Amino acid sequence: MDKILIIGAGGQIGTELTTYLRKEYGEKNVIASDIRATLHDDLMESGPFIRMDAMDSRQVYQVIQKEKVKQVYFLAAILSAVCEKNPEMAWDINMGTMNSVLRVAKELKFKMFVPSSIGAFGKTTPKDQTKQETIQRPNSIYGVTKVAGELLCDYYHDRYGIDVRGVRYPGIISNVVPPGGGTTDYAVDIYHKAIKFNKYTCYLKEDTYLDMMYMPDAIKAAVTLMEAGHDSLRYHNSYNVGSMSFSPKIQADEIKKHLPNFKINYKVDPVRQSIADSWPNSMDDSAAREDWGWEPDYNLESMTNDMIKVLSERFARRNKDEETK
Ligand code: SER
Repeated sequence: MDKILIIGAGGQIGTELTTYLRKEYGEKNVIASDIRATLHDDLMESGPFIRMDAMDSRQVYQVIQKEKVKQVYFLAAILSAVCEKNPEMAWDINMGTMNSVLRVAKELKFKMFVPSSIGAFGKTTPKDQTKQETIQRPNSIYGVTKVAGELLCDYYHDRYGIDVRGVRYPGIISNVVPPGGGTTDYAVDIYHKAIKFNKYTCYLKEDTYLDMMYMPDAIKAAVTLMEAGHDSLRYHNSYNVGSMSFSPKIQADEIKKHLPNFKINYKVDPVRQSIADSWPNSMDDSAAREDWGWEPDYNLESMTNDMIKVLSERFARRNKDEETK
């Protein structure tokens, strides 16, 4: 069995991907790594953890060589809203970590998953059913790092034969670890606030459509793409993947089916609104469907059912624990 290293295992996607891969490929074969000194308890207990600074290519080299790693899931990145607060840091971290790991891949020849994002598109990109190959002139610094990353990965593939693959993720909705400061975070937070307070103040306008995806599908996309035969892939970085597209109003209406008294109001944040306005309403993911059989399992209705069930049970357990203290 190939050893797998997750870089950025403590993040929103990394946490759940590590758990999934450990179940699938064996706990000892999946090494979690992060710049943080410690991760979610379940991850620390279920398999190996190495603290690593991905900017430091010598450290990355040593870990990958010593552990005989053959596959790397690279998930270290700062999300769009935080990037906008400090563009210099955004470039240094998003590009610095990727560059460092790609350099090591050139020496040690492992297979890599490097995700891109809907952020790789911009204001001049056609908005509906955005094609796989289209205009990519992003207006956010996050998007600039995503396009540069896509190009750098393709360069390493074409020039050095590194098997590096990726998808353009939509906003990811999940219930284990919160997202770390993206434009699409509202779509996660809304469930928490709906269950706790029956109301939510949204920082995007009610009719802002964006592509979204439930975490089980985000994991499915990464693993299915990594397992696909190399020769079936027309693209490496990156494939459009979609599963649902909605606006805050549509999501709120879906939540109201479960919580009829739920109320949403809007207090627009101009920075995040302008980023959201520059991203597609929906992506055409037919290339991923044709080349490696991409097919999502969740839509807005089934995701909302699951989010409300999981979070309500969790909050009820916590309240009970508080009461018995
Ligand atoms: N969810 C990300 C963000 O909002 C997009 O990839 O930054």
